[in-house]
Amino acid sequence: MSNPSTWWRNAVIYQIYPRSFADSSGDGYGDLPGIIDRLPYLTQLGVDAVWLSPFYLSPMADAGYDVADYRVVDPLFGETADAHELISRAHDLGLRIIIDLVPNHTSDEHEWFRAAVAAGPGSSEREMYLFRDGQGEHGELPPNNWSSVFGNSAWTRLHHADGAPEQWYLHLFDVKQPDLNWNDERVRAAFDDVLRHWLDAGVDGFRVDVAHGLAKKPGLPDQKEVTELLGTNMGPMWDQDGVHEIYRRWHGVLTEYDGDRALVAEAWVPDLDRLALYVRPDEMQQAFNFAFLNAPWDAATYRTVIRDSIAANDAVGAPTTWVLSNHDVMRHASRLGRADTGNRNSAGPEDPQPDHELGLRRARAATLMMLALPGSAYIYQGEELGLPEHTTMPHEFRQDPIWERSDHEQVGRDGCRVPMPWTADAPALGFSPTGRTWLPQPESYRLLAVDQQIDVPGSTWSLYRDALALRKSYALGDGSLEWVNDLGDDVVGFTTGDVTVLSNVSGVPVALPDGEILISSTPVDAELPTDATVWLRRS
Ligand code: GLC
Repeated sequence: MSNPSTWWRNAVIYQIYPRSFADSSGDGYGDLPGIIDRLPYLTQLGVDAVWLSPFYLSPMADAGYDVADYRVVDPLFGETADAHELISRAHDLGLRIIIDLVPNHTSDEHEWFRAAVAAGPGSSEREMYLFRDGQGEHGELPPNNWSSVFGNSAWTRLHHADGAPEQWYLHLFDVKQPDLNWNDERVRAAFDDVLRHWLDAGVDGFRVDVAHGLAKKPGLPDQKEVTELLGTNMGPMWDQDGVHEIYRRWHGVLTEYDGDRALVAEAWVPDLDRLALYVRPDEMQQAFNFAFLNAPWDAATYRTVIRDSIAANDAVGAPTTWVLSNHDVMRHASRLGRADTGNRNSAGPEDPQPDHELGLRRARAATLMMLALPGSAYIYQGEELGLPEHTTMPHEFRQDPIWERSDHEQVGRDGCRVPMPWTADAPALGFSPTGRTWLPQPESYRLLAVDQQIDVPGSTWSLYRDALALRKSYALGDGSLEWVNDLGDDVVGFTTGDVTVLSNVSGVPVALPDGEILISSTPVDAELPTDATVWLRRS
């Protein structure tokens, strides 16, 4: 393990999406025992920590981001004891564990929401959520014009058993994800307890879901623009100053524990200076850098995002994070091979298809750029195999609520959530012993399976493993960056410690300066080809 007092400053954190990682029970869904079996795979790859997407009791209206009990493991993923075993087995292997905390909303099947519905209008139980009377003569219109990020109105009206309509409740996401009222002290106290529960169980930190959404503008005024999916339109429900006192409180809870635990914000806040407020010294430790994930394949944009991210974080003394893929966006091996390389929304069979070869080439180059940058880096399961997005998945398999709620305008996020291919010639490509999979795997995954790539020179898996080892030995995560500008506008170039990193984001090869080649995303000799990154040891 790295220095315990600073582990999250430079850590490489591997995101596991439990339902798609490894299925031990054979039901077609990944589970915690499946993850436990595969932990040595992660140490072989060389990551420092694992972030697990939710595995809690849930009706699975949003793949587990609709939590019915924050302390219990859903039977789909195993038993509650499996979570505790996973934490201790990971620690034995030197891996840290970050779990997902979903505080903006619960499931509508959570006991708090059930009690609130039963207790009726005006009750104190309803104060834990955002219930309001409707507008219009009979309350038939929603309380305001807010839209759900999954499409359509963010309000749903309740009905009495006899069918008579009553109040509305707010859900920024699915109808089965009612938003909590964070002005209510019971909500705050309950989450302190949830944090302590898992800190006692030994987790090293929490990834905080929708961290920019907990505080709503007082009075819930109408929004001016429509909420884009996980988008950049800010409105009265996003990034309100009131979120920060919540994170200061949580910071205090974490410091009751030893071992340097961390909070990481999932906050889709486009202004990097506003985002940096989440990682002030008395708040969270990290925030995902979605500006980097959103960047198109363009050298000037990369330079700007890298420079501004580091500056904004330096101003508050926080490490920068870097991320290219996760369970909500198109895999970068596909995004970078489409005409609009800055479009993170997935694609379906009717849409223009990405150029897989180009996408993978650029993805390898982008990853090699990312892994040299100072700070902490996130890897999403399967990107170490160069997996593409499943962009031809037949619609009948779609599970993401976005597909239905957007009236089939958006295909949703299933294409990046397809079960991992482990073994080319096994049922379900080694994902499940019975061959069942909750989403179909595309044929292209066969040749990309782990057993086809592990320790194979030139494979994407080997590129990741080698880059992670070099990153560690040259301490690049702790590095500081100086720009190299003499190779032209289309080369993103910087030095960090003893290493010079050059990414050729243009259409023409450039001559390589002197230096020993440590690693490259594509074979290089005297020239750095297009869409390629190289790390040189400074001579
Ligand atoms: C976050 C999660 C996403 C989920 C949403 C609602 O953005 O990453 O998967 O649908 O929050 O919880």
